[in-house]
Amino acid sequence: MLDQATTPVRVPLVTEPWGILKSLQMARRNVLSIIPDLATRQPMVSGKTGKRWHMVMDPATIKEILLEKLDDYPKSVVTKNLLKPAIGESLFIAEGAHWRWQRRAAAPVFSHRNVMNLSPIMSAAAERAAQRVTDAGPRAVDMLEEMVTTTFEVIGDVTFSGGDTFDRDKVHGAIDDYIAEAGKISLFDILGFPDWIPRPGRLMSGTALKEMKSMADSAIEARSVRGHEGVPDLLDLLLDGEDPETKRRMSTAELRDNLLTFIVAGHETTALTLAWSMYLVGFDQDVQDRARAEAQLVLQGRACTGEDVANLPYIRMIIDEALRMYPAAGIISRTAQKKDTLCEREILPGDTVMIPIYALGRNELLWDDPDAFQPERFKDRKAINRYAYLPFGDGPRICIGASFALQEAVIILSTLLSRFRFTPVAGKQPEPVMILTLRPNGGVWMTAEAV
Ligand code: HEM
Repeated sequence: MLDQATTPVRVPLVTEPWGILKSLQMARRNVLSIIPDLATRQPMVSGKTGKRWHMVMDPATIKEILLEKLDDYPKSVVTKNLLKPAIGESLFIAEGAHWRWQRRAAAPVFSHRNVMNLSPIMSAAAERAAQRVTDAGPRAVDMLEEMVTTTFEVIGDVTFSGGDTFDRDKVHGAIDDYIAEAGKISLFDILGFPDWIPRPGRLMSGTALKEMKSMADSAIEARSVRGHEGVPDLLDLLLDGEDPETKRRMSTAELRDNLLTFIVAGHETTALTLAWSMYLVGFDQDVQDRARAEAQLVLQGRACTGEDVANLPYIRMIIDEALRMYPAAGIISRTAQKKDTLCEREILPGDTVMIPIYALGRNELLWDDPDAFQPERFKDRKAINRYAYLPFGDGPRICIGASFALQEAVIILSTLLSRFRFTPVAGKQPEPVMILTLRPNGGVWMTAEAV
């Protein structure tokens, strides 16, 4: 048993082979609890739970899957079935030529310059978060809830800024419901349980989803007629986007699906990264003090700006370490198309090949004392094995929003740490639970003292 006082919270992984019903029961609560403990000590683990599956933790083999054999290992059928009702054949789930042209058209949207131009929106959201913490006074605040609010403000403002056709709260509600429902289904499908096992509920009625899509469509149409003033937001940039090879541009439906993709893929993941970072700096007050000293020196009382980000290396290391220990996307999965051999094991077409990013970050073959919180690991980034650290995936399908998310996380975390000392509420430890994303269940409860 790990000592809870000296090690941040973790999920006890499975140490014995379970029957199908036990796995089912456990997975319904927490996908992480079905990752075998072996996955933290071995390069590859295979099994059969209805369907054949493999978990790969060997960096060189992961590179084969994500980079060298991209077309043999497309995103899993599960991922696609799950997300298609919400985000159509968008960038996140399309394959082959249909994925390629969208990726080329969207790439400039996330250029360094464009992401930097959007930083004032992030700074303003950080400022409002600090104000809400101040308003709570001595009362404890759930920093998970706070970070979800803050990142949704950011993504709402950078996708459909300045429009009155877009109801932020409504879209937020619809997306949260969708993620909760989709998560329940995915547990079964990820594991490939046979069809006779009853699935919980149906995906949400579709009404909220339809409403959300038509709201987005009106916002897009209004914008293409009216144009936009000021700094171009993600919608303006995508409206201008064109595949340099085919000259193809996105239709209203394609624009809408991709913007909703940015919201679905970018909002909760960034919120969770921030919530876990807050948990960790609450866990280790020395790290928090050092981070605060850095932030105060650079920010001098201001909210962090895009330009400040490069001067806050220690804050960034905390975020990198939070992403290693609690990667928001805890598992990525692919469906094998061809007979193949990975790590000397046979792969058959139709096998599910998973990269359990959570177990990769905790693998003893790859990390020193993997359960310890040590932001310093990221001091020399060149020393990190690229395919051992994959919070954003890698290869051509690497997260398109990674630099956007990291900039946002540094801006929000540094602004908060420069102004408050956060102390965790005794007896309220979050539990890492993965449904679609890896969440601190129970919340990250902290009190904040102005400094
Ligand atoms: C800390 C925050 C984030 C994390 C941990 C994260 C993680 C990931 C991961 C692991 C993938 C690869 C999935 C796979 O290969 O199966 C991915 C893809 C993607 N992410 Fe993110 N993401 C984050 C933020 C964002 C943001 C802010 C946006 C957009 C605004 C975004 C948009 C996307 C898109 C569109 C893809 C699909 C790219 C493609 O297939 O070409 N993500 N993300």
